[in-house]
Order: sequence, then C-alpha cells, then structure tokens
Amino acid sequence: MFSPSSLLSFSSLNVLLVLVLFFYGGHSSSSSSSVPTKIGKGYRLIFAEETTDGGFIGHLQVKQKNSIYGSDIPILQLYVKHETEDRLRVHITDAEKQRWEVPYNLLPREQPPALKQTIGRSRKNPITVSEIAGSELIFSYTADPFSFAVKRKSNGQTLFNSSSYGSDSFGEMVFKDQYLEISTQLPKDASLYGLGENTQPHGIKLYPNDPYTLYTTDVSAINLNTDLYGSHPVYMDLRNVGGEPFAHAVLLLNSNGMDVFYRGNSLTYKVIGGVFDFYFFSGPSPLGVVDQYTSFIGRPAPMPYWSLGFHQCRWGYHNLSVVEDVVENYRKAEIPLDVIWNDDDHMDGHKDFTLNPVNYPRPKLLAFLDKIHSRGMKYIVIIDPGIGVNSSYGVYQRGLANDVFIKYDGEPYLAQVWPGAVNFPDFLNPKTVAWWGDEIRRFHELVPVDGLWIDMNEASNFCSGKCKIPKGKQCPSGTGPGWICCLDCKNITKTRWDNPPYKINASGLQVPIGFKTIATSAVHYNGVLEYDAHSIYGFSQSVATHKALQGLEGKRPFILSRSTYVGSGRYAAHWTGDNKGTWEDLKYSITTVLNFGIFGVPMVGADICGFYPAPTEELCNRWIEVGAFYPFSRDHANYYSPRQELYQWKTVAKSAQNALGLRYKLLPYLYTLNYMAHTSGAPIARPLFFSFPAYKECYGLSTQFLLGSSLMVSPVLEQGKHRLKHSSRPVLGTNTILPMQQGGMISKEARMTPFTLIVTFPAGASEAQAKGNLYLDNDELPEMKLGSGYSTYVDLYATVKEGSVKIWSEVQEGKFALEQGWKIEKVTVLGLGGSVGTSGLEINGSPVAPGGSDIELSSAEQMHLQDDDEDGQGKKK
Ligand code: NOJ
Repeated sequence: MFSPSSLLSFSSLNVLLVLVLFFYGGHSSSSSSSVPTKIGKGYRLIFAEETTDGGFIGHLQVKQKNSIYGSDIPILQLYVKHETEDRLRVHITDAEKQRWEVPYNLLPREQPPALKQTIGRSRKNPITVSEIAGSELIFSYTADPFSFAVKRKSNGQTLFNSSSYGSDSFGEMVFKDQYLEISTQLPKDASLYGLGENTQPHGIKLYPNDPYTLYTTDVSAINLNTDLYGSHPVYMDLRNVGGEPFAHAVLLLNSNGMDVFYRGNSLTYKVIGGVFDFYFFSGPSPLGVVDQYTSFIGRPAPMPYWSLGFHQCRWGYHNLSVVEDVVENYRKAEIPLDVIWNDDDHMDGHKDFTLNPVNYPRPKLLAFLDKIHSRGMKYIVIIDPGIGVNSSYGVYQRGLANDVFIKYDGEPYLAQVWPGAVNFPDFLNPKTVAWWGDEIRRFHELVPVDGLWIDMNEASNFCSGKCKIPKGKQCPSGTGPGWICCLDCKNITKTRWDNPPYKINASGLQVPIGFKTIATSAVHYNGVLEYDAHSIYGFSQSVATHKALQGLEGKRPFILSRSTYVGSGRYAAHWTGDNKGTWEDLKYSITTVLNFGIFGVPMVGADICGFYPAPTEELCNRWIEVGAFYPFSRDHANYYSPRQELYQWKTVAKSAQNALGLRYKLLPYLYTLNYMAHTSGAPIARPLFFSFPAYKECYGLSTQFLLGSSLMVSPVLEQGKHRLKHSSRPVLGTNTILPMQQGGMISKEARMTPFTLIVTFPAGASEAQAKGNLYLDNDELPEMKLGSGYSTYVDLYATVKEGSVKIWSEVQEGKFALEQGWKIEKVTVLGLGGSVGTSGLEINGSPVAPGGSDIELSSAEQMHLQDDDEDGQGKKK
C-alpha cells in the first residue's frame, strides 16, 4: 500500500509580475436562476411491451396540456434497451413525428424502432412489465405520472430517478417542441463531474447552483461558469457506499442548447429541442466508465508521436523570418521543440488555404519546411470555417459552384469573421465534405503542412442576425477594428428558432442564441435547422477534416479543434481556448484538461503562459512546469501580447529545459498512455480519484493530477510559493514500472535513445508487485494497433519477495522493436528498504549481479523528478 504522494511526483518553482492588457469577451459572474419550474402534470404510460430485440417500448400520453413554452407533444414513444452489459439506453421522442437527433452517420449507434409501429395498439395492450434488468443496471418505472429510475443491481443504489415524488425541487417531465425538461433525484453525497465545456472556478467537482449551460459559444475561457466552445452533456457520478467506490455516467445525447441545474440533491435538464436520448454507463470504476463511454462515442484518435512533443504558436508572427527566428532561438536556448505553428498571419487577407506572397513567400516557406522536416520537426497552420466572400478567391468560387454553404432565404448565409464577409460551409452536406477535402488537398500541395488547427468553429461570427454587405462598402479584414461587425445586420427575432420560448443562459448573459453566431433559423443540408445542429458544427468540421487529412498521404492525422461535441475525441485534439495569463487561469486549466479526459478528448492542453497578455516571468515559469505535463503542450499568445516564447526570460528558459526535458524523457510513457486512451478511453491526464476512488479527499482535488496511473503532477500554482502544501495520503495505490528514455531536443531523436525502467515498490515492503507497459509503433500509420507488423507491446512486471527482486517482460510482436534497435539500458528499483543489498536479482529469468552501472537499487520510496527547492529566480535554496 502506498500513497499518491509516494508516486513519482513533479514539483518545482519560480517568480512573478502581473499585467493584463487586452481581451475580447469579459468576465461574467451572471448566472441563470436555478429556481425549479413545475410545468404541468407530466405524462402517463398507456402502453408498454417488450420488443423482440430484448428492449421495451411504450407510449406516454400527456396528462394535461398547457401552453407554457409551447404546446405539449401529446403522445411520446419510450424505448428502453440494455444495449450492452454495461450500457442502458432510454430514448423518448414524439411518437408521431420524426424529431431532430444527433445524426446517426456522425455518431454511429443503434436506431430506435421506427415510429408509428405500435401506435394503433396503444390503448389495447396491457402493461405487462414493470422493470427490465440488465447485468448491472435495472430500469424501472412508475406509470402515472410516468417516471423512470435506473438502479445498480450490485448495491441497490438508485442512480437516476425522474420521479418528482418526495422532491420539492422539481416537477414532472415536460416534452414540447422547443422545451424538454426532466430531472433526477440525487443523493447529497454523490460527486459529479463533467457537463462542459466551461471554466469551473470551483474545480472538477460540479458545484451546486453553479450554472451549467451547454451551447457551443465563442466567449473566451476567462468567463467563468459560461457555455464555452464545446458541448458535452455527460456527467460522471462517483459515490462512496460504505467505503466502496461506485462510478457511473449519464449521457443525454442531444445537441440542442440546454441549461443543466445541479442543486446537490437533484439535477434538472432544460433543453430547447431534440429528444431525450439517455445512455447510462455502469462503471463501476472511473476508468470503467470512460472505457464504456468511449466504446460508445468513439475511441480517442491515435496521436502521432511528434504531437506529444512541445508546440510553439502565436498570433502575430508577421512574417516567415520571425518564425525562423523562433525555431532557431529554441535551438539556441536548448529547449525542446517539435512543432511550430502559424495562426492566420501566413494567409493572404486572412483567407483560408492561401499564402501572403510578401510575408510568407512560398519558395522561402518551402525551403524552411524542408529544413525543419529534415530535423523531424513539424508545421501546423490554422484554418477557420468562414470562407471569404470574394469573386477572385478560388476556394470560395469552388464552394459556391458546389453549393456547399449554409443557407438563409435560399442564399448562402452571410457573416463576418477575419477575412471580412464570409459564408460558412455546411459540413452536414456530403458535397461540402468532398469540396473541403479537395481544398485541403490543394493546400497541401501548396504547403506540406503536418496537421491542421480548426478554430472559430462554434461557429464564431462578429455579427448577429441576417446580414448584407452595405452598398459601396467593403468589410475590412483582419484584426482590430475588423472585429466589429460592418455588415448591415438585422437581428432576427421573429422566428421561433431565433426567439425560442425558453431562453438558455447563452454566453452566461441570456443573450439571444443567435448572438455572434450563425442565425439559428439558417438552414443546413436536408432542411436541418442551425437551431438544432449548432453545437455539432465544430464536430462535423473535425470529421470532414479528418477524412481529408487521412485521404492525403494515408498518414495519421493531427487536428486541433476549438469546438467539440460528444465523439470529437475520435478525430481531434482540443485546447481550452482563450485564457488569460493569471494565476487563477493557470489553476482553472487543470480542471478543464481533466474534464476533457472524461469527455473522451484526452489530447488536451491550455495555452501555456496564457493567451491574453501578459504573463509575468514567475507565472510563465510556473505555467511551463504544469503545461509540460498537459497531454497537449503548446505555448500560444494573442496578437496584442508581448512575446512569450519560453526563451524570452532566462528563468523560464531554465524551467522549460527542466520540465520539457523531463517530458521528452517521459515520451514513451506518454505515447503508451496515448495508446491506452485509444484502446480503452483511459484519460492521459486524470484526476486522482481515478486511481484512488475510495479516498474521498481526492474527489474534489483539482490542483494535482495524474498522468496515467504512475505519475503524479503536483505543481506550484500560487504566486510567491515554493513549497507544496499537499498532504493527501490515501492508502490505496498501484505500483508501477515507468519506461523512460534519455530525452532530446526533438521527439524524433529522443525516441531513438536507450530506455531506462523505473520500478517502484512500496517502501520496505517484504512482498510486493509492480507493473507497467510500453507501446511502440510506426506513428505515421493511420491506425494504432497491434498486428500491423509495425508495432510492439510490452507488459512489464516486477516482484520483490524477502529481498529477492525479479523483473520480467511479456512481449507481443517484439520484431518491430528489435528492428528499430530499441534497448533497455538501465533499471532503477525504488522502495527496497531493508532488503537493499541482501537481494538476489533476476531479469527475464536470469540472475544478475546488482551494482553494475545498468542496475540501481534504492531504498527511496519516491522519486521527485524535479526539485521543489528553487526560489523562482533559478537559484537553489
Ligand atoms: C481565436 C483562437 O481561440 C485563438 O487561439 C487564435 O489565436 C485567434 N482566434 C486568431 O486566430
């Protein structure tokens, strides 16, 4: 038994200063009222029977109509099915009319039974069943008023219960065209996580009465408790039942805007469209929950090895020479760097897929790319969905010719983003997907980029409403005043889509839902309304972009998307958007990163040192010490920020050398975590309760996190501090074997250095075991799997028993690793206590004499990979 603090831990420190110059968007503490509404008397079950596929179908009839938020849907179809041993689905929709649902081609899943199948029989059939049990989850209901509950078989706990009986905090289920409401009772001691994307000032555990609004929105991440770029209507619920932990998750698969009110003892969904499509995942471990969740929504994308290296970006690299300098300065400063990025500075007039001929001349850019590619470095550029309306712009003209844009009144919907006036491609349209793929192919022929960054895809629009270009006027493109809408725009408030009866707390300010985005009455392919499809815009763009990149050279794609939805992790990585260089934002970044692990988007990070200006030296120092351990590690800054590359300050450069130096040694471990994420959904960065679910003190812990189960990151997050206060000492834990290499300045080099294995045992234990694993492959292959002939997987084991240490491995498909010449150079064994020196040592069945340079035996219980004794000025205390 040992504690997380006895895991390998990282800590360290440095200095400060705070200056904030510029941001768009603003802090808002505004929250919607959480007063429960009690609308109507709900529904009664009038028919129910088991279906031949082992499901259960029923009809619900509204008990008493009213007109609050529109008229009630008279008859609903209820469909319940245990789809797997650990997944239960409860689907409720209009029995007579097809309603909007997340498209089945975007998020593949089983279709519920066709409508009207049973409607004629509604009143004749008796209700024959009262509950249906799966292996672990039991569905039961009350008929009048209709409510349903989900129970866990093994401990009898009720996980979800929509019955308002005995609850003074919510009313009966409501189902109208534009307003759906359902609630669940919750035990007060349940710990909930998820429901994003938002910046949560109270940490990872959902906080009673904080608003949780889900609607993809471009308001910056500095806004607290506000609907941000992504929509993930899923929560994990962790309960400690008599000392035993049980976790499950609840997904409401619905893409319409919603407010979720969590009051501690209940949770209410208020949704402005779609259907109730609930999925319950039984866990019971947190890792089990994400495994089940991602097996349903799609496993996280395999990431190329280099993407786990360090990335440098900024908005405002005005010309190629600046970019070249940045790369050279990283080299000179001996700070690892794998990927250099361009924001929209390389573009001609901010238009996607173009190059500015003066500042980024193609021949010079190609020569630069040849140079960095030969070193193993990579290059990524941004693209925005808004396509500049411009008669001499081929991308736009081909888009028009292929009819790829979202429509309003039969014309492409007009909006304004960086290029000035733009139209938005409709990624739900197969023709758009083909056109987009072709544009990416053309661009790749122009510039061989290694990945794409899809930004502003909530979608962000500088104008609201129905717009037209004023006569004789051109909308300016670019930054600064160009941000202000110059189009003649009329706010559209007349349609019930633009002005729905129930107002979600959009942008945290209850602004109209079409505020600074596509008007919700605009129309997609097949007549789909933006009202319904709004929050899957970025997701659909990720799918199209992934398809395009995969089709190019057959290589593993890398895509970074700002907007995400359920299932986005299968295609893209994510960063937490426009944060600020403040100590608070540094802290919040941990919570958002951990949440995205739960959402099935494990490749995630925040802008290191902050997007909005300007971090102090101390803050940037501390930030790289945290950011070096984000799964996705990138320094990025705003156009107006002073330069903040890590070499800009001596002390930051030193911290970066340490922290990123360590990251590069840990790359084989991170890559193995990437493989585990891809095969089982296990988050790369995870909250401590994933490893210590029984230990309640971990449930809200948001200032430390785990990488996998072997490494704990314990950062300094406060100004002026240089000692850690964390004293959490749970009693359960794993042992571990950590594979490391020797590091380097570029992941390609670091990858070829010899391995060291660090084996940790609980201090002084006379008998213990340790385990680890390692995955290696050719990361250019699109798939990440065994059996390709280009991968190797190793399980690592160690035991200590009465002074004798045995270490061995079980290798699958070792041929690939052998061909690459990978070898283990050194083994360090920690935690041997009294048995050091008395031990016999055996590696892979052969006795080995301890004491050689390749074996190190130590009594140390833990290994600090970085010191915490610097004072922020680069000096040891
Ligand atoms: C908004 C993004 O969040 C930010 O990272 C980027 O720099 C700007 N758009 C400009 O492209």
